[in-house]
Order: sequence, then C-alpha cells, then structure tokens
Amino acid sequence: MSENALERMAWLVKELNHHIYNYHVLDAPTIPDAEYDKLFRELQALETQHPEAVSVDSPTSRVGAAPIPEFKQVTHAVPMLSLNNGFSDEDIDNFDRRVRDGLGRAQVQYAAELKFDGLAMSLRYENGVFVQAATRGDGYTGEDVTANIRTVKVIPLRLRGDDIPAVLEVRGEVLMFKEDFERLNQRQRDAGQKEFANPRNAAAGSLRQLDARITAQRRLRFFAYGIGLLEGAPLPESHSKALDWLDQLGLPVAKERAVVTGCEGLLGYFHDIGARRKSLPYEIDGVVYKVDRLADQRELGFVSRAPRFALAHKFPAEEALTTVSAIDVQVGRTGAITPVARLVPVSVGGVTVTNATLHNEDEVRRKDVRVGDTVVVRRAGDVIPEVLSVVLERRPTPVPPVYELPKTCPVCGSHVVREEGEAIARCSGGLTCAAQRKEAIRHFAGRRMMDIEGLGDRYIDSLVEANLIHGVADLYRLTLDDLLKMKRLADERDGTTPETVKQGKVATKWADNLLAAIAASKHPPLERLLFALGIRHVGESTAKTLADWLGSLALVRRAPAPLLRVLPDIGGTVAEAIADFFAEEKNQQALNDLLAAGVAPQGEHAPRAQLREKLDDVGLLAALGIPKLTEPRARQLLADGRTLDDLAHLKIFSVFGLPEGVVTALEQWMAVPGNRAMLAALAALRTELLAQLPQDAVDAAGPLSGKTFVLTGTLPTMSRDAAGALIEQAGGKVSGSVSKKTSYVVAGAEAGSKLEKAEQLGVTVLDEAGLLALLGAQNSIK
Ligand code: IVH
Repeated sequence: MSENALERMAWLVKELNHHIYNYHVLDAPTIPDAEYDKLFRELQALETQHPEAVSVDSPTSRVGAAPIPEFKQVTHAVPMLSLNNGFSDEDIDNFDRRVRDGLGRAQVQYAAELKFDGLAMSLRYENGVFVQAATRGDGYTGEDVTANIRTVKVIPLRLRGDDIPAVLEVRGEVLMFKEDFERLNQRQRDAGQKEFANPRNAAAGSLRQLDARITAQRRLRFFAYGIGLLEGAPLPESHSKALDWLDQLGLPVAKERAVVTGCEGLLGYFHDIGARRKSLPYEIDGVVYKVDRLADQRELGFVSRAPRFALAHKFPAEEALTTVSAIDVQVGRTGAITPVARLVPVSVGGVTVTNATLHNEDEVRRKDVRVGDTVVVRRAGDVIPEVLSVVLERRPTPVPPVYELPKTCPVCGSHVVREEGEAIARCSGGLTCAAQRKEAIRHFAGRRMMDIEGLGDRYIDSLVEANLIHGVADLYRLTLDDLLKMKRLADERDGTTPETVKQGKVATKWADNLLAAIAASKHPPLERLLFALGIRHVGESTAKTLADWLGSLALVRRAPAPLLRVLPDIGGTVAEAIADFFAEEKNQQALNDLLAAGVAPQGEHAPRAQLREKLDDVGLLAALGIPKLTEPRARQLLADGRTLDDLAHLKIFSVFGLPEGVVTALEQWMAVPGNRAMLAALAALRTELLAQLPQDAVDAAGPLSGKTFVLTGTLPTMSRDAAGALIEQAGGKVSGSVSKKTSYVVAGAEAGSKLEKAEQLGVTVLDEAGLLALLGAQNSIK
C-alpha cells in the first residue's frame, strides 16, 4: 500500500470530520455539500481498496452498522444518578440555603444550564477516540448503543485539540429538534406508520433501533452537560470551566448557560429561560442548577441517589392524568358542535383544569375517549386544554360504551347535522338556537340582508342579554321602552352612561330611528329574506336562484332537496342544507313568527315557467342521490308509465331488469325512515306544480326558448356566468359542448376548440355585442 494513499486517507478523515463539526456543531458550513460528497466518496473508495487502513474515526462509519440481535450491557464506571426536583421559588430558596449551610458560606456561585428533555447518554473517549456510548439504564448499568450513536453527526468521533485526556466519559442528553420531529412524523404519516407523541419519544425510538441504519436516517442531536470519568488530565476547577473545556474538545454544549449567584441569580436565570423556552429549537423541561466549584460539589456529596450540590428546577408539567366524568357538547355561535370532556379537576401547569376539548366526533373516535376513562390532558401556554390520549389499561369494567354525538342540540333541541366530508357537526336550529342567537340576528340585520340600519353588534348583544329578543321575529315587536331599557343596560355595562342621561334627560331620537329602520325592513325582496335566514351554504346568489325559480317563500320552504337540486347552480350539499333547514320544525316556527310579525317579501311571483322542464321525473329521480341510480337507470324505473308516486309505494324493485347492485341500493334507500315519505311528497309537489305552470312552457318561457347556446373564451364586459344567466332568463339553454343542435356559439377572446367546432359545423358564432343585440332585439319583439 502506498504511503500516498495512506496519507490521503488520513487527510480525508481529518478534513471531513472538520467539515462535519463546522456544519453540525457550529452550524456554520465551510464547504458546499457537493464538495463534501466528493471527498466522502473518495474516502469510501480508498477504504474499499485498503480495508485494513480504515481509521477508527472515519466518517464513513456513521452510516449505520448492520443490525445486531440485542444491546450489550455496559457497567458505568461512574454511576449516572438523577437530580432532585424543585418547582416553587420556595424550593429554590431552600436549596440555596442548604448549600450555603453545607459549605458554611454566605453566598454561593452556581452554574445554571438547561434541563434537556431527551435521554441521558454517556460517551466514552479513549485517547481522544470515541469508543463507546451507553444509555443510563438503572444508573449503574445501561445498554451499549455505540453503533447508533456513531450515526449522530454532532458527536465527534475524535476529540479536537492537543489537550486530549487518556479517558474521558462525557455525560449529556440525546434529543431531537422540534423541526426534525415534525419532519419525521410527516414521513411516518406518509408511510402510513405510527407517529411519535413527542420529540423525546421520537429520540428514544430512534436510538433504540437494533438496526443503526434506521437511527442514521433520524436526525438526533446531543448536548453535553458534564463529565463522568476523567483520566490523564486534571479536572477543571469548576463545572462552568468543565463545560467550556468540553466545548473546546469539539463536543456540543448549549450556549444558554450562565454562572449566577444566590437564589436571586437562580430565579433570574429560570425566568429568563422560561421566556425563551418557546423559541429554542428543542424541548426542555426546566433548568438545572449546579454548585459551580467542583471542590464544593465534592464537599456537599450525595444523598441516596441524587447530588446535594445540584437541583432541577422544573417548569410546571403541561400534562396530567385524570378521569373523564362526562362528555358534553358545546354549541358555538355558528352552530358548530364541539364535544368537551368534563374532568375530575386536576392541576396542570399550575392551573386547575376541569374541561378539555375533544375537538370533534372523529377525534373522540380516534382517541376512543369514553366516560370513566383515565386520560392524559395537556395544557400548553394559553391554548384550550385538550385530551391527548386514553390510558387503556385503566379503562373501568364494565367497559363504558363508545361515545356518540347527540342527535339533537343540547341548547335548542334542533337536530344535529354533519355534512359529508365535514369533521364538524352543526346544530340546524340557526334561527332559534340560543347559542347562535346573536350571530343569527347580526346576519339577519346585515346590510345585504334585511338591512336594518343602526342595529349594530353592541345593541344586538344588549338586546339578547336583556332578554328582549329571543329570535329575529322579536325585532319587529320591540317598543320604544324596550330600546331605552336596552340602551341603559348597554351604557351601564360599558360604563358609558352619557351625562344627559345621568341628569334624567333621555334622548329618544336614535330609538325612533331604529324602530323606523326595523319597520322599513319588513318588505324585502324574497332573495334578501332568504339570504337573511342564515341557511348554511345559501349566499346571495343561491338565494337569488331560489327566488327567481320558485318565486315564493311558501314554495321554497316546502321544496324537497331533489327539487332544489335540479335548479341551476344548486348542488347536492346546498340542496340538502336548504331542505334540512326547513325540515327543522323550529325554523319553520321562526318563519311563521316573522310572517306573523308583519314581515312579507315583496314581488313574489309564480314559479318560473321553465321549472316545467326541470320537473322531468327522470331528472328528479336521479337527483335523489340514491347510490348507483344514474339517469338511464331512473328512466328504466319510470318506464311503462310508472310515476314517482308509484315508486314511493312499491315494495319490490327486482322486476324491472335493473342490475342487482342497483336494486339493493334502492331497497336500502327506501328502508331509510323518511325517504319514502319524501319521495311521495316530491311526487305530490311535482304534480301540483305541473298543474300550476303554463302548459306551453316554450312560449311563456321567454324569447330565446328552444335556443341552445355555448359560451367560450373571455367576453369583454361580463363573465360567462353572467351571460349564461341572461340567456337563461330569456328562456335559452346554455350547454357545455358544441353540436349540430347548438343554435349559437358566443365566443370571446382566446376561444379555442369550441369555436373551431362551431365553424366546422356551421353554427352561428356571436360575440358579446351580438349576444346583447340578440337579447335586445328579442326583448323589443316581445
Ligand atoms: S446533571 C448527578 N444536567 O435529567 C446529576 N442532567 O434527573 C446528573 N438532564 O436523566 C445529571 N439536562 O439526563 C444534568 N443539564 C443537565 C440535564 C440533565 C437533562 C437529565 C439527565 C437525567 C435527569 C436527571
């Protein structure tokens, strides 16, 4: 073997280790990654050629050794003991007093440092070379995790400098940074594997791998906090100097350390670190105080298994165990239903916790929290306490039942709905539920809704709190006296009673104005009233579609979902939400109250004539949302003159030649309570509407009826939707694709294949102006 190769290998090891140190310990890379990789590969190649010359501290050994059957036991030359804990200022004062008494001194200096929330580790260096890593175990014997620790890049495989002791055992903590933990959990999730509960567990799980190659993929870190054994070099005179020395030897030592004096100094450090805790990239569970002078430490010695010279000052625990006494639900101001665990009171982080959120139904299921369970609750900072997990071993017998969300709202008794794909269940009593009252009234009175000028949030809050209004209809029954009472309460509450009022002079102009504004809001266009009701998913445009097509509140409030669903731009979820709102008896009652209070929409009209086309029974049947029941299947069912009403009363569906799957789906759907009745109601409403609607829909439907339009490209002044609405208003149809049957293609800028197709088929092409002219011309003909 050539001298050159040997020298080159030695140089590469040194060079690479230097870069690893700069990158991982100092966090200050000195060469580009690609350059590092090149040198690394060169070393690997040389090592393959000269396996006998592989250096003990070669960075190539960090990739992880082959799996081992078990960890070997290691006896610690110096035991790894634990620390006593302190929590209160008083505990710290007592500690300082005991130390001063023990040393017979008036003042003592302490080394203060972080209490890392990881795993204790002992690293053994012989003549500067890393030879062994051991876990703490029971403090006297631990496990040999050398192969795993070799993969931790911040741990040097050879100590730096000239001042190298014959034997050095470094004590410190292995941990995982918060961001590496998050990344690891993301990878676990992506791979469908179990996530780790916290960085500490993740670090432990990564370290305890018999296959060190897995450890190598997890980014573990290390901070040194002391010396276990030292041979062949003098011990520094103080702990703080020992840490400085470890730092010089190339070991990672946290910067957040200080030398302080007396109890005051200790508490100052504690508060300072407490304030910086969140911004540290890793988790700590407190700070550690150690008498700085090592001679003093020796003098103080140990009691049982903990040093007298040191104390862990822990942050208040953020997690605690307690039992679930009940699971209730809370109703938010928008109706969101949140399950809440009622707990046997427990102190978490110095605060008594009696409730914890369970977020939503799926979360309760996932964690499988049941009444009577022992649970881990967590309270971090200002956030709402939450139930983290159940201690299954402590589940009582007989085993409590699986939790189910109530079917009705605990506040108002309305039914609870959970839409498909939504995690949150909601109370459907929007107009009447006390939990949602303020929000419902606020929405109702809004500018784009009933537009009650002067009825701001402050007054709404006061009116509700003073019990003057319970629902929106009560607004229309308010008297001048009510408003004055409300104002007085509001002023008192906010401490803003005006001087004039204090002097007994009551201004009433504002109240008169408000009453006038309320009265003036009684006759809104139907779409505004519909929007004001606060029906989930019903915004201005859906409200307008409902008003345009159905014409009257009477019809909207009794339209079943399938009928709503065939209206333009109303999908399944929206149709369900509307029907659901009106299915709630309490909402119907609230509407009746409104009408009784004199609210009446203006300009109601008969349903739009084109509704006739939408009342096609096949379309309606397909809109029922019965699984597998496509339009062709619906047509098959309605063949031979069968009607929707016939179907609502049929018992056997297997006689129409439908595939078995469709028959089963149908039968299952019919078996759901309420579905048959809904179908019968739909059939009846359809018949009724058909009788009302003009027979000759084409004529009545408007000037463009019978004409099919395709819109493509960007129109200069209006959106395609707006143009489509104009066409439909004039009775035309809008389609998505061009065929021979297309009457007109309306093309804007950057029209593509549809325009080409129109030209091929000889379909008339219009621009926006052409369309408007057509609409205008048609209007004038009309
Ligand atoms: S000194 C004889 N310093 O806390 C005292 N320990 O109960 C030896 N820990 O498992 C420990 N940060 O792993 C010391 N700055 C620190 C520490 C620390 C965390 C852990 C240690 C041990 C436990 C002591």
